[in-house]
Amino acid sequence: MSAASADVANAPYEAPAGLAGVSVARTEVSDVLGRQGFYHYRGYNAVDIARRGRVEDAWHLLLRGDLPTPQQRADFARETAELRDLPAGVSELLPAIARLSPPGSLASLRTAISVAAQAIGCKPWTDQSEAETAEQALRLSAIMPVLAAQLFRLASGQQPVQPRADLGYSENYLYMITGAVPADRARYAVERYLMLTIDHGFNNSTFTSRVIASSGADLGAVVTGALGALSGPFHGGAPARVFDMLDAIGTPDNAESWLRHAIEHGDKLMGFGHRIYKTIDPRSALLHEVARELHSERVAFSEVVEKTAVQLLAELKPGRELYANVEFYAGVVLEAAGLPREMFTATFACSRIIGWMANAAEQISDNRIFRPLANYQGPTAPREFPEFWRPTEP
Ligand SMILES: CC(C)(COP(=O)(O)OP(=O)(O)OC[C@H]1O[C@@H](n2cnc3c(N)ncnc32)[C@H](O)[C@@H]1OP(=O)(O)O)[C@@H](O)C(=O)NCCC(=O)NCCS
Repeated sequence: MSAASADVANAPYEAPAGLAGVSVARTEVSDVLGRQGFYHYRGYNAVDIARRGRVEDAWHLLLRGDLPTPQQRADFARETAELRDLPAGVSELLPAIARLSPPGSLASLRTAISVAAQAIGCKPWTDQSEAETAEQALRLSAIMPVLAAQLFRLASGQQPVQPRADLGYSENYLYMITGAVPADRARYAVERYLMLTIDHGFNNSTFTSRVIASSGADLGAVVTGALGALSGPFHGGAPARVFDMLDAIGTPDNAESWLRHAIEHGDKLMGFGHRIYKTIDPRSALLHEVARELHSERVAFSEVVEKTAVQLLAELKPGRELYANVEFYAGVVLEAAGLPREMFTATFACSRIIGWMANAAEQISDNRIFRPLANYQGPTAPREFPEFWRPTEP
């Protein structure tokens, strides 16, 4: 009798591939209602918060549990701005890290945030106080944009720009990348993007952050692992690839034939499709509006590509309900606000770390280690050892 069949009485439930449609935890942080094209942060319409607020509002809501009063907002903005300075010993390492990869590399950012977490003394959360873990969560979120911006400048042969505590989150971010305090409309555009992408249910990197936190690991491990997940083209790596696709299409006349060929050859169109949304992604709708307000040259062309792609996906992939996702207009907005293409995914990481930290905190507050099963499909066990295998003496 095989080991697998011996345990058949306890045969586990086998979740569908990609855990589609499976709930794996309870949360109060955020939720995505795919059919309604709606998502929220702790019950508040996330798109409304993004339209009307500042990053610090959403950050306070996720980390501290509610939207801030005006006084709380001012205090929180000051508190987080003061945490932007890099911990001792990290700045010296950044030039060497930046040299290893091209500008905007998530691999560099992953290495740097891991180093920074060590430098601020992150320990397994089981071995330190709740207050220490909360302080580290805030600090890691505050320094991620500094690391992203400084690595970018170093990798592109420029001097890093030190953060300014007198600037708001988004202004400071653009300032550290470009070296100039941004125009208000650029700040406004980037801020909409950052707020829209802070959290989004149990997306791949957020789930990763909770899995890692569930083992008792330190927050540096949580962020590093989540960043690894975010870097993939099916998740956060899409917006720059949307631009590559737009470049490859080249002209509106070419859109239909290019897109048809790609879909017929089994390619995934970057910036389309979503596991949960089966209608327009509300983040994409707001970013489309912001892109129009910025009068970006790319908007008209992007609109043709979006319309053509949605029609072709309906024709060639009937019933899959594929529409533009957050990534489609993200690049248009970020580029028009002055961010280089290489920085799109790193910018996503800067906002999403806030969601990772809120989710890690929730996991820690009521933890059970994630440890699912796998359905073994290999040769029946135990196998006969092959003749050729000669074990060495112990
Ligand atoms: C987001 C994404 C990973 C979701 O994946 P998923 O829920 O596992 O969806 P599936 O890959 O199972 O797709 C279901 C069907 O739609 C098709 N499909 C999904 N997204 C597609 C896309 N962007 N272009 C073309 N076809 C797509 C799949 O080929 C599949 O077709 P099939 O039934 O003939 O096999 C996927 O849509 C994708 O890769 N999109 C492009 C990358 C992107 O924009 N990522 C950013 C996400 S915010």
